[in-house]
Amino acid sequence: MCGIVGYYGPKDPKDVIVGGLKRLEYRGYDSAGVAILDGPKNDQHFKVVRAEGKLGELAKKLETVSFTGHLGIGHTRWATHGVPSERNAHPHTVDGVSLVHNGIIENYQDIKADLAREGAVFSSDTDSELVAHLLARKVKETGDLFKAVELVLPMLTGAYSILAVWEKQPDVMVAFKNGPPLIVGVGEKEMVIASDVQAIISHTNKVVYLEDFEIVFVKGNDVKFFSAAGAPIKKEVVTITWTADQVEKAGYKHFMLKEIHEQPRAVAAACAPHVNLETKRVKLSDVGLSDEQLRGIERVFIIACGTSYYAGLAGKYLIEQLAKIPVECDIASEFRYRDPVIPPRSLILTISQSGETADTLAALRLAKQAGALTLSICNVRASSIDREAHGHLYMNSGPEIGVASTKAFVSTLALLNLLSLYLGQVRGALSVKDEQHALEQLLAAPSQMEAVLAYDKFFAEAAQKLKAYKGILFMGRGINYPIALEGALKLKELAYMHAEGYAAGEMKHGPLALIDERMLIVMVCPSDRNYEKTLSNLEEARARGGRIISIGTGDNHALKAVSDHYLSLPKAEWNVNPILESIPVQLLAYHVANAMGHDVDQPRNLAKSVTVE
Ligand code: F6R
Repeated sequence: MCGIVGYYGPKDPKDVIVGGLKRLEYRGYDSAGVAILDGPKNDQHFKVVRAEGKLGELAKKLETVSFTGHLGIGHTRWATHGVPSERNAHPHTVDGVSLVHNGIIENYQDIKADLAREGAVFSSDTDSELVAHLLARKVKETGDLFKAVELVLPMLTGAYSILAVWEKQPDVMVAFKNGPPLIVGVGEKEMVIASDVQAIISHTNKVVYLEDFEIVFVKGNDVKFFSAAGAPIKKEVVTITWTADQVEKAGYKHFMLKEIHEQPRAVAAACAPHVNLETKRVKLSDVGLSDEQLRGIERVFIIACGTSYYAGLAGKYLIEQLAKIPVECDIASEFRYRDPVIPPRSLILTISQSGETADTLAALRLAKQAGALTLSICNVRASSIDREAHGHLYMNSGPEIGVASTKAFVSTLALLNLLSLYLGQVRGALSVKDEQHALEQLLAAPSQMEAVLAYDKFFAEAAQKLKAYKGILFMGRGINYPIALEGALKLKELAYMHAEGYAAGEMKHGPLALIDERMLIVMVCPSDRNYEKTLSNLEEARARGGRIISIGTGDNHALKAVSDHYLSLPKAEWNVNPILESIPVQLLAYHVANAMGHDVDQPRNLAKSVTVE
């Protein structure tokens, strides 16, 4: 995790770097720092300013500091080695070499022991500082930062992306990676290197994605790419479509609230490329897998983490019901270490908003090694997972900046609908009429979602009362069960409250004991084939004194009668209900966390892009 920015060019590096870090703060926010050249023209040194806490602390410190140079690097940290503190904040600077690092150097103990034997003195508890020591030694030998990197790279094991600068080469930046992402923005007379395009788009829309074991060498306005062995390589310059205004809050208090409100558009954008408006049927555009390949699939494994995993769980219900293919759904960190049996003709479907989640990426690689066909659902195009999968579906949600995923979740639900319908179509598992009906329902979702967003006001008003409960149990059955899980995850991560997501039918097997008048039950209970049974579960919870918020379809008197609050959703088919139900559970978590005074966009201990195991 952690965010990296480097800049060389005519603008004030402080502004570019701090502006970039602000957009990368979702990646980590326990400390931050910059190292920027300063001093008279021919005798510039790195002036390093670092601060514990969020970026705001660093920005305060920098208010009165200026720099004369045109080269600098910056970092926002999510601690791995060494507690969050100013001393452990990046950049780490040794003898004029300064670097920022994202990831983990796994052999750091060996490196540290060797360096200590040579008399190195350490000024932090991080693994990152050790690389600065190694580079400082090698620039002394070689007189060149690029050569030093070539020598140091083979000494490192682990997952890392590193950006280094040396004061003796004031127009040079060298970066390399194995794991976490690094992107080079190629501007007009300026170069930006960063962990994510969001830090780059204000300066240029021309970017190059670095692959593992590649080195980027920036010298002035020139950029070259090399393999770890030093062989020059040609890289494609990609033009990105995200714009700078997409990464602003647009008047909302938090990115998360903005992103919740963007969801109708996100679902429409996910669907748009895959609908044949003439035939009113699904056509998977540019997915990169042939109909023959899709027809041949006998089993699907859906693999993801966190919110993406819960979307995948909903996908299991969709694919099994609409395409009649058996589906296993796995948490990526479990899948990769359980020696999974992947039979021939399996499709491995990985879901990741960022496309960089380390466990999901590792699971994808494992599946490819086993010879499986792979398909990814990603939001960030050209991210590692997107690049490595055989087939691709895109969420098209636009940048998601709030650490808690929202619009990527509903976009994924829409894509899983489309994929299931298409699999059903090519395999003959679904009649044309049923496919068209399900698709019609899906295409109606964005306007129905607009209506559900009106619950924003309800939760804003109810939040003070809701935060007083000792915990919240979210429950649902069938395809609504993953929404219960997602509701609980959102509340845990944002409000730091105890919450559980349960399959409503499981309640009697344990969680019923949790229920009393201080426990709030959120029952996701739309009018689908499980409705009656879920209603009975709701009665059971109520009989134990639980307070009830129910989420159902239309003007449901039966639900109203047994609930403290009833939230009505527009009438939709079972395949679309989860998209509508997501909104109230997201709004609940958002408003309760906000009422508690939490930083909703940057919940404690978390980072958006989990690029370490
Ligand atoms: C929770 C959340 C996380 C992510 C998870 C996977 O709100 O955002 O649980 O869903 O870290 O991230 P991606 O989808 O980027 O692989």
